[in-house]
Amino acid sequence: MTRSIGILTAGGDSPGLNAAIRAVGKAAQRAHGMEVIGFLDGFVGLMQDRFTRLYDDELSGILTRGGTVLGTSRAKVDKMEMGDGSRKDMRSEMKAVLDGHGIEALVCLGGGGTLRNALKLEKAGVPVLTLPKTIDNDVAKTDVTFGFDTALNIATEAIDRIHSTAHSHHRIMVVEIMGHNVGWLALGAGVAGGADVILMPEIPYDVEAVASSISERRDSGSAFSIVAVAEGAISNEDAAARAEMTSRMEGLAPNERRIIKKEIKSFDERVGGTTELASRLSGLTGLESRVTILGHVQRGGTPSPADRLLATRLGAACAGYVAEGVHGVLVAAAGEETRAVPLKEAAGKTKTVPLDHPWVATARRLGIALGD
Ligand code: F6P
Repeated sequence: MTRSIGILTAGGDSPGLNAAIRAVGKAAQRAHGMEVIGFLDGFVGLMQDRFTRLYDDELSGILTRGGTVLGTSRAKVDKMEMGDGSRKDMRSEMKAVLDGHGIEALVCLGGGGTLRNALKLEKAGVPVLTLPKTIDNDVAKTDVTFGFDTALNIATEAIDRIHSTAHSHHRIMVVEIMGHNVGWLALGAGVAGGADVILMPEIPYDVEAVASSISERRDSGSAFSIVAVAEGAISNEDAAARAEMTSRMEGLAPNERRIIKKEIKSFDERVGGTTELASRLSGLTGLESRVTILGHVQRGGTPSPADRLLATRLGAACAGYVAEGVHGVLVAAAGEETRAVPLKEAAGKTKTVPLDHPWVATARRLGIALGD
C-alpha cells in the first residue's frame, strides 16, 4: 500500500506557503514514493474531513503564488467552534479522519499557534511535523521563518517610497509595521529603509525622548523624520501598567487569572495606537505628521526568492523526515542545514529580538533612535 502524508496550513497566511506545500508534495512523491493529501482551511477542514489529493497537476504552477492554495483558519484543536456557540476538543475526531485515510504523519505549516496545536495533537497520538511560517519571524528554535523575507522587502520598499514625500513636506511620517508582539520586521525594515526612529515591543519607548530626537534632527537641518513602529510597540507608561496587571496574576487560581487576562486583553485594545503616537509627536515637535499602516499588504503577493528557497528546502527535508518515521518535531532552519527540533522545545515560546542583537547594535551605531 502507498504510504500517505497529510498536510495543512494554519494561522495567518504567509508568502512561501505554496512553495512549501509544493516541496513537501514533490519530494514525498519523487524521492520517497509517498502520496500527499491536503486538508482545506487548516484544522477546521481536517475536523470536517475536507481534503484534496495533491498530485503533480495540483502542485505545478504554485511556487510563485502568494497565500495558500489549501486555505487557512485560526482554530484551537482542543477548543474547536462547533457552530452553536460551544467549543469542543476534537483531537480524537481529527485522529480518526487521518487514520481513515491511512495517513502516517500530518505536516502542519504555521507559526506559534500552529506549534501549540501540533503539540496537542501529537500528545493525542497523531504523528505531527511542523514547518515554520510567519512574516513575524517569532518562532523559537529556527533561525528564520518563511514569509519574513518577503514582508521585509515590502515594508522596506514602503519606507523607501515614504521618504520622498516626507522630505518634500517636512513631515514626521509614522509607518506602522506588522509583527504581532515582536519587532523583527519593524527593526529589519527600519534599518534597511533608513528610518530615523524605530519603535518595537522589546524596547518600551519614551515619547518625549522620541520627540527630542526628531527635534534635534530638525535643528540640524533635516526637517522630516521617518518613524518605523512595530504594531506591538508600547510606551513606558503603558508597559508599566501592563506589567502591574501581569504581576497581580501570580499565585492566583486559574479562574481568577482568567479575569485578569481579560483585563489585559481589553487594555491592549485600548492603549494608544500609532495615530495617537503621531499626534503626540506633532504636539511635542511642532511638525506636521502623517500615519501609514502597511497592514496586510505585507503578507500578500509572490514570495521573494529567499522565501521560496527556504520554504522549498524545509519542505523537501520534511518529506525526508516523514519517510524516516520522524515526528513530533519542528523542521527548523539552522544555517544552510535543517534540524528536527522536538515540538515541546519550540511550542509556547516566542522568539523576541534580543536587546544585544547585531541589528539593534547597528541601529544604535547609526544614531537611529530606539525610543529609550
Ligand atoms: O502573524 C502574522 C500577522 O500578520 C501579524 O503580524 C498580525 O498581528 C496578525 O497576523 C494579523 O492577523 P489577521 O490577519 O488575523 O488580522
